[in-house]
Amino acid sequence: MVKSLEQENITMSKTSDNVLSTIDGAENQTERFLSREMLGVVEAASLSAGRLMGKGKKDMADQAAVTAMRTALESVPINGRIVIGEGERDEAPMLYIGERVGKGDDDMPEFDIAVDPLEGTNLVAHGLPGSVATLALAPKGGLLHAPDTYMNKLVVGPAAKGKIDINAPVKYNLNVIAMSLSRKIEDLTVVILDRPRHTQLIQDVRAAGARIKLISDGDMMPAIASAVSGSGIHAVMGTGGAPESVLSAAAIKCLGGEIQATFKWRSPEEKARAEKMGVIETSEERVYSTNELAPADEIVFAACGITTGDILKGVQYFGGGARTHSIILSHSAGLIRFVDTVHMNRDNPMPIQL
Ligand code: FBP
Repeated sequence: MVKSLEQENITMSKTSDNVLSTIDGAENQTERFLSREMLGVVEAASLSAGRLMGKGKKDMADQAAVTAMRTALESVPINGRIVIGEGERDEAPMLYIGERVGKGDDDMPEFDIAVDPLEGTNLVAHGLPGSVATLALAPKGGLLHAPDTYMNKLVVGPAAKGKIDINAPVKYNLNVIAMSLSRKIEDLTVVILDRPRHTQLIQDVRAAGARIKLISDGDMMPAIASAVSGSGIHAVMGTGGAPESVLSAAAIKCLGGEIQATFKWRSPEEKARAEKMGVIETSEERVYSTNELAPADEIVFAACGITTGDILKGVQYFGGGARTHSIILSHSAGLIRFVDTVHMNRDNPMPIQL
């Protein structure tokens, strides 16, 4: 059982700019506390959606994750506001943009929360690898309020940070990534969403000699994997969801990598909506950096596997309960946690396995 803020003798600072880290002289205690709370939130969503794996019903799986995440967030003692969620208030009953979540008082410091209760709805529906329940949390204003549109992205790990340029030719970036990793371009693997819009990109990557992993859905976890040595992924390229770019940026910032992204509007209405949401620079030429997508110093990112992917295992159900695998990142605390949790079925206790 996770202790409450009061039990841990932590009081949230109501005045400090550094909302997460200056509490009772114990640096980053709140960030540590919130990490544990957010772990519970993503685990709840994964446990719920995982039951619907392979049923061919992506909306049902999404709804299960949304309901579980929303319910779990309600018990967290924060004053949270959804800034990236399931859509506008009139189109999503839960976790809509602007929704107030958490059981904290209104006069507590406000947190912005970006959620994707089920990243990879098709993946769960078809039992394919790489789906997760995920969220990022930061003090108010700490995450770009990106609308549900597309962004072109280039994501790399710490070695190539500061060396890439999304506007440069593909070969240039692959060369830079290869050199920073002391390997040949032929030894790189780039993840790209398998979409007609990526025909030229795929040709360019192939011509440069790198290997490609084409994915049907879910480009956020590969972005994170590109910053995890040993994952076998060295970059993510191409156009995918803008919300996923912000979530990727939150995680990539904690992991020391880099993301560059530019908006790709599908319609003038989308652009107008972004402006309404506070995005000031909407030109497709404007390159957003990691720090512009996720400006906060204090960020908590959490993702829990639903179906097994590059770095997280999916939910395993067994007679004695279920087992989940998550990654929890805290930026200012400098913590990267891989968490393996057994959720015991108290009515049917069983010995657990290593
Ligand atoms: P879901 O919203 O169905 O989970 O899909 C997520 C996703 O695959 C992202 O990972 C990716 O960035 C985006 O959709 C790609 O969008 P599209 O399928 O329209 O190309």
